[in-house]
Amino acid sequence: MQLLQTRAELRRWLGSRGSAPLHFVPTMGALHRGHQSLIRRANRTGGLGQPQVLVSVFVNPLQFGPNEDLERYPRSLEADRQLAAEAGAQALFAPSVAELYPEGEAELTRVQPPRSLQQGLCGAHRSGHFEGVATVVVRLLALIQPDRLLLGEKDWQQLVILRRVVHDLGLAVQVEGCPTQREADGLALSSRNRYLEGEQRRRAAALPRILATAAQQLRGGATAEPTPLAALLGQVRQQLEQEQLVVDYVEATNAHSLQPRHQLTGLTLLAAAAHCGPTRLIDHVFLMSRAPIVAIDGPAGAGKSTVTRAFAERLGLIYLDTGAMYRAVTWWVQRSGVAPDDAGAVAPLLEGLELQLSTAASGGQRVSINGHEVTEAIRSPEVTGQVSVVAAHACVRDALTRQQQAMGERGGLVAEGRDIGTAVFPDAELKVFLTATTAERARRRALDLQQRGFAVPALGELEAQIAERDHLDSTRAVAPLTQAEDAVELITDGLAIEAVIERLVDLFRQRVPHDAWPNPSV
Ligand code: PAF
Repeated sequence: MQLLQTRAELRRWLGSRGSAPLHFVPTMGALHRGHQSLIRRANRTGGLGQPQVLVSVFVNPLQFGPNEDLERYPRSLEADRQLAAEAGAQALFAPSVAELYPEGEAELTRVQPPRSLQQGLCGAHRSGHFEGVATVVVRLLALIQPDRLLLGEKDWQQLVILRRVVHDLGLAVQVEGCPTQREADGLALSSRNRYLEGEQRRRAAALPRILATAAQQLRGGATAEPTPLAALLGQVRQQLEQEQLVVDYVEATNAHSLQPRHQLTGLTLLAAAAHCGPTRLIDHVFLMSRAPIVAIDGPAGAGKSTVTRAFAERLGLIYLDTGAMYRAVTWWVQRSGVAPDDAGAVAPLLEGLELQLSTAASGGQRVSINGHEVTEAIRSPEVTGQVSVVAAHACVRDALTRQQQAMGERGGLVAEGRDIGTAVFPDAELKVFLTATTAERARRRALDLQQRGFAVPALGELEAQIAERDHLDSTRAVAPLTQAEDAVELITDGLAIEAVIERLVDLFRQRVPHDAWPNPSV
């Protein structure tokens, strides 16, 4: 592993390292198992080839307040070098203050993150801290120009702020939040834990324990009405004080906007900071009223089913293929000999409808309707030709939306369709609009028909069919195909399936932290 101490050495290394993706882990040194887990994650390919990993070690004076621990912050470059190399880093950039800030602190161009993200939590108690963090990270990003920036979720406010800074400045780097690493008794790993002595170390473990108990308490008491949080905050504060921890704050906020939250709705951050002797500890848990929901909408033939199924499996979420439900109803309408465009005749068929989606032993999805196994049959060109017409009836829409919402009551699923983010699960944690150009979708459809032994029309004809279906889906009066305002558009032209899944995993992790939905593989 290369040790780089000047910007010139860094430039030379960057110039000679080849074209592999570059993943960057910024640290203030005093590396521990938590940093090593960031470096190990940074080594994972993400489907785009084996990356190179650069770690920086820089105790950034800009992010310390006048009475904070800048002078005594642990510095151990030789040990850091070994730990970074052991975890698989290719280079360690450890500049001096004069090397990174040659113009001197007073003359620096600084990055000021939005006030709304800094005014609560640690920002309220550490004036100027996040400006210092944003300034150094942007400077490092400008010098290094990595493809991916890995940050711990432990410093959740820092992660939210840096994501926002990267987004607002249009920096071409993917930000990945990584799971918090803990000691056996729950204490989150931190370089500052080195300050804890004897009895203090025992008392420090009360912070994660009290937060975890509070989260547990809410999980037990789920009610129809949103749970008020004030009493819980008071209780956490009191318990921390009983452990002789000196509390800076105990706050509940929206996990992404970081604005105070008074009731449990949506993903909520319960965070606390407290002093244990000379050490300032921070920690948090996430509160959720149900498991996460991902809504994936988009036009026909954009490859939604394949990627959604694989994505759901990767995250341990249930896959809800709502398109298959509409297809099954279409099959039933056709089998019953009813005209698909006759809403009056279709409506009675929906009464007492038994429509089931289940997972086959092979892992694939099985669909049955009124006791008929229709997994294959609903993929026929006849069903494909009429599903839009059937799905446009308000009675069909209402019946299936109700059923889908009942299936999603406890969350923990990825639902795929046309109006999931707008009508079925408008409060989904992540909404994606997955699409591809008409030409690309026609190519994919031709390949699929060919592989399944059906006659393949000319590409132009397929394109026209797809355009016609898009038009029908997006102009119908009931539940038209529209992109939810808060959905992320993902255009899959030219992307391999694995790359699309990686992108979805990244998007999911931006919305749903590891602590809220743990899954060691993503
Ligand atoms: O989290 C840290 O260690 C620091 O705040 C960072 C991101 C390296 C910036 O100095």
